[in-house]
Amino acid sequence: MADSAHSHTAGAHAPGGSRRDFLVIAGNALLGVGAACTVWPLITSMNPARDVLAAGAPVDVDLSSLQPGQQVLVLWRSRPIFIVHRTPAELTKLQSPSDTGQLRDPNSEALQQPPYATNWHRSIKPEYLVLVGICTHLGCIPEFTPQPGGSLGPAWPGGYFCPCHGSRYDLSGRVFSGVPAPYNLPVPPHHFLNDTTVRIGENPPNSTFDFDSIEQI
Ligand code: FES
Repeated sequence: MADSAHSHTAGAHAPGGSRRDFLVIAGNALLGVGAACTVWPLITSMNPARDVLAAGAPVDVDLSSLQPGQQVLVLWRSRPIFIVHRTPAELTKLQSPSDTGQLRDPNSEALQQPPYATNWHRSIKPEYLVLVGICTHLGCIPEFTPQPGGSLGPAWPGGYFCPCHGSRYDLSGRVFSGVPAPYNLPVPPHHFLNDTTVRIGENPPNSTFDFDSIEQI
């Protein structure tokens, strides 16, 4: 039985703006996302504790009010899950050599996502990205930084910046070359119940993907 996501009214990230605010759908849990070097415990052994499993029920999220360019944050298995509604311009950039040429694993060859998200957009629907928001270096929570350029330099295409040690990911969660993080951000099991409702924590009916088989959370 899935939990229903709750209201989401605060802090929409304005496309092109500079604020790192988030819509938050997480029951009554509000995460301090964006705080410098917020560390999330890394899971190196895929034997989750009983209480983690107990917290692992699927979560349904209504994305109908999530505008292009915005991100929403939810919790699943006590972990932050980023859901982004990408704009057409952002989707175009994800396929450009100016983006892919900066990446360590542009084709998602490492097992950091289900087979149904092993594609250039790392998702089921190109416009909706779903990621586990935990840096694959040492477990900080990366900052949603969708604006190109700015303080991250002219080559910055928009994506996620981890302030702890400077790791960078694009807007598909693909890690840059030459940064400490070794892997792309994980994509959790998910599927769509209708056009704008996504269920986090459950595969599509035709998939048996085991999230515990991924390289690194
Ligand atoms: S934890 Fe993200 S760069 Fe080190």
